[in-house]
Amino acid sequence: MFDAEFEKRADEIIARYPQPRGAVMPLLYLLQEREGWVTLEGEEWIAGKLGLAPSYVHGVTTFYTMYRTSECGKYLLQLCTTVSCMLRGCDNVLEHIKQRLGIEEGETTPDGRFTLVTVECLGSCGTAPVMQVNDDYYEDLDIERVDALLDALAQDRPVPFPPGPGPQRVMVG
Ligand code: FES
Repeated sequence: MFDAEFEKRADEIIARYPQPRGAVMPLLYLLQEREGWVTLEGEEWIAGKLGLAPSYVHGVTTFYTMYRTSECGKYLLQLCTTVSCMLRGCDNVLEHIKQRLGIEEGETTPDGRFTLVTVECLGSCGTAPVMQVNDDYYEDLDIERVDALLDALAQDRPVPFPPGPGPQRVMVG
């Protein structure tokens, strides 16, 4: 189902754990990194690899909010709308993104490039407003920075300012 490189990375992850089932979460991350979201077929593959029931793996996927269970755009825009970000203007940022991309919350642009959702506190309140784009945090956002960010992502160019450190980094593989 997956290529040799993917299998190799999966085997390396599994080897780190005394019990194979311990690898279920990093393997779900690996799958999400590759597919863009956690597919049922991918869950079944992980279940087979770890000797688990597919329903167990699906239970893990659906328990944690960081796993995406439906198809989404190449860039998942998760804008925080909790108090600190709200006080620092996330509403304006949200409206601007919606108008610019022509989508509402929960929708994906017709070209499949962007999906926009709002989320609760991303744990980086001191640099509000904050938006997570895939695994990176972009902080201290205003309309100008959002435009620069979206301009770059629309053309798969490097963003002209670095992502912030965020509360933690998720490492896979
Ligand atoms: S309120 Fe937005 S990061 Fe905490």
